[in-house]
Amino acid sequence: MDYDRIFNFSAGPSTLPVSVLESARDDLLNYKGSGMSVMEMSHRSSVFDAIFQDTKAKLRKALNVPEGYAILFLQGGASSQFSMVPLNLISATGKADYAVTGNFANLACKEAQKYGQIHIAASSADQNHSYIPTQEQLQLDPEASYFYYCANNTIYGTEWSYVPETGKVPLVCDMSSDILSRPIDVSKYGVIFAGAQKNMAPAGLTVVIMREDLAGHELPYTPLMMNYQTMIAKDSMYNTPPCWCIYMLGLVLDWLETQGGVAGMERIKHKKAQMLYDVIDNSRLFTAAAQKGSRSDMNVTFRTASPELDAKFVKEATAAGMSNLKGHRNVGGMRASIYNAMPMEGIETLAAFIEAFDRAN
Ligand SMILES: Cc1ncc(COP(=O)(O)O)c(C=O)c1O
Repeated sequence: MDYDRIFNFSAGPSTLPVSVLESARDDLLNYKGSGMSVMEMSHRSSVFDAIFQDTKAKLRKALNVPEGYAILFLQGGASSQFSMVPLNLISATGKADYAVTGNFANLACKEAQKYGQIHIAASSADQNHSYIPTQEQLQLDPEASYFYYCANNTIYGTEWSYVPETGKVPLVCDMSSDILSRPIDVSKYGVIFAGAQKNMAPAGLTVVIMREDLAGHELPYTPLMMNYQTMIAKDSMYNTPPCWCIYMLGLVLDWLETQGGVAGMERIKHKKAQMLYDVIDNSRLFTAAAQKGSRSDMNVTFRTASPELDAKFVKEATAAGMSNLKGHRNVGGMRASIYNAMPMEGIETLAAFIEAFDRAN
């Protein structure tokens, strides 16, 4: 069915699969004979409990989350994890390593400085975060309580192509903008977290996947709601969880399964991104903002040599049915966010538009 939708390249909240939206619509007034919407249901009801447990099980399966790891469905956005991580983890040695490869890693690093001694293990600020440091460039402190990095830098359009080797130091990773885009070895991580509003669900849900033994060591003044142990003990239901978003995540995970799961996503995401990088690299007008080898498959950042021409591009693209292509002010130019739910047709349309714009200007 044609809903007159446009290709939405928003960095988040972002486009969701149409079939997911259709299922949500069909369930909206009466969820499977319960006589009510999931939005109206008690989070303690058996109907919602089934949705909750089912979604958690589907996520565990999709990411192959091993035993000993808890899956938490929290609120507060990925940004609340910038505080929760140090509050819960830094007591091990009082120190932590941060790789600052973009805006959100920088915010997390600044927040952590309130709670312990923070060492910047690597920074890409010298080249406006256009690259990811190599393993050799990481200055690791073997006494760090954890090593923190952001797997995909949404604003700058860079993505780590490797998992840092940190020995015994647990890895903490913000995967907000590339979770579910590829298989990951969860056992390599101490804590993985992600705001849901890019690859998982509507805004309002924050997913945490963590080694259970890392909980229970929080700083004494850690607020109850920011204590991982509270949430593990209560299976994320100390208070009312983001019920609707959890339900939506379940639908997205069903859709993901039909696409071949995270392995299926990995097969097509690079092809999608490469199609855009190729037209950008082969054009006269456009350059990619991120350096080769560090380029993100989720957020493609590019620009012309002139802010006026960038503005013209965004305006004409919008008129042609492609929205939210304006880049973040820290980078300028354009950004195409092409998460899992962006169909190949959207990529092809944008690639053809870039080529036509290059010829016409
Ligand atoms: C990588 C990354 N981390 C953290 C955030 C902040 O997420 P939230 O708005 O859910 O706090 C974002 C938001 O875009 C992001 O892209």
